[in-house]
Amino acid sequence: MRRPRPSPALRPPAFGYHGATSGKGAAKPSREDLYCEAVPLKILATRHGTPLYVYSAAMIRARLNAFAHAFRSIPHTLCYSVKANSTLGILRLVAGEGAGFDVVSGGELQRVLRASPKAADKVVFSGVGKTAAEMELALRSGILLFNIESASELYVLSATARRLKKPAAVAVRVNPDVSAKTHPYISTGLHQHKFGVPIPEARTLYALAAKQPYLKVAGVSVHIGSQITDVGSFQEALERVADLVRVLRKQGHDIRYVDAGGGLGISYEATQENFEKQITAYARAVLSPVRGLNLHLLLEPGRAIVGPAGVLLTRVLYRKTNNHKRFLIVDAAMNDLVRPSLYGAYHEIVPVSRASRETEVTDVVGPICETGDFFARDRKLPLVSEGDLLAILDVGAYGAVLGSNYNTRGRVAEVLVDGAKAGLIRRRESVSDQLRLEIS
Ligand code: LLP
Repeated sequence: MRRPRPSPALRPPAFGYHGATSGKGAAKPSREDLYCEAVPLKILATRHGTPLYVYSAAMIRARLNAFAHAFRSIPHTLCYSVKANSTLGILRLVAGEGAGFDVVSGGELQRVLRASPKAADKVVFSGVGKTAAEMELALRSGILLFNIESASELYVLSATARRLKKPAAVAVRVNPDVSAKTHPYISTGLHQHKFGVPIPEARTLYALAAKQPYLKVAGVSVHIGSQITDVGSFQEALERVADLVRVLRKQGHDIRYVDAGGGLGISYEATQENFEKQITAYARAVLSPVRGLNLHLLLEPGRAIVGPAGVLLTRVLYRKTNNHKRFLIVDAAMNDLVRPSLYGAYHEIVPVSRASRETEVTDVVGPICETGDFFARDRKLPLVSEGDLLAILDVGAYGAVLGSNYNTRGRVAEVLVDGAKAGLIRRRESVSDQLRLEIS
């Protein structure tokens, strides 16, 4: 059974408990409140309402710096994967740290351009279904690299680039047939997946690309999946990529970039005290196959940057017991955070104010009319009352971005904390926001 860990090391440097003593000389805090950096979360819940996503700028900066440090021995660009969390406030923060971006749609590219127009030349465009209109936007914006995923797409890009008279730098995203050992929905590097091109076929695509007047062969790209904790899978994939780079160079292709994709997993179970160790092992796995190739490395991390930087604050609406089975009905639901319902994902849940030492085994569920609307099942949690606040941890990646309006619920407001400052970066969606697009 999981127990609440001792304070304050919950998710340093982002989230931790700080004691509130009841009176002078009290030996022990009577209550402990959860903070994001220097800001008590209960204040944010009162100010902005719940459910509420809260992110820590310090954590995002720390993670970006850790990547930069681990890969310092090779020329590289960190292209933060926008799909993990695409709120403009987050993109602006990431751009301010000097990173580039990995986008998979024209919409994501427009977000990047809005957040930081200067970052366009550090953008890589991935995805199996880019439309000609999206390619046009990317070409006009002057992005760094297109990751091509099929011959058909290559022809469309070639025609679009020629029409606009704007050359496109291309990499072929290869499918290395490596198992990522992760959830089947987020594994992408096996032959049965829709992603990438098998390596033998990729060689043909490079020959084809080289013949297109407005395509410039520039790199090889790979991405084998997400939430990968076994770094051996990355090494295996990169070994195959390195072999391909050598072959392509022999054939006269000018390969300057290797895009190693994203996918590094985080710990959803506990404080990631071993993050430094993990990022070092990841860097070794990625770098050892490509060392000596004189390449510029591109990386597309998403979750590892923002995952532990976010919590979802939710209030307990009701307590309920059905034949001894206990439920906490909270005001957040699967439309706000779908990971538990969709992937059976585990997210730690903690009370925002810790007063009671008593625990209970309970389900934590939302108000939506689906049995799948849950955040935790049979979870041992400290006893909380109706009206209390809970924080669902590690939701900075693939949380808000996967939100929907199911049950005509508005998308959740988002706050970015930086030290003692807390700014609203997205306001709560109202019903009139939702109805505005409908025609009646
Ligand atoms: N690059 C490409 C081409 C990708 O498809 C992805 C993620 C990334 C980079 C970033 O991967 P990361 O570093 O975040 O693992 N919704 C799922 C995750 C889907 C990931 C999709 N692709 C979840 O909640 O676990």
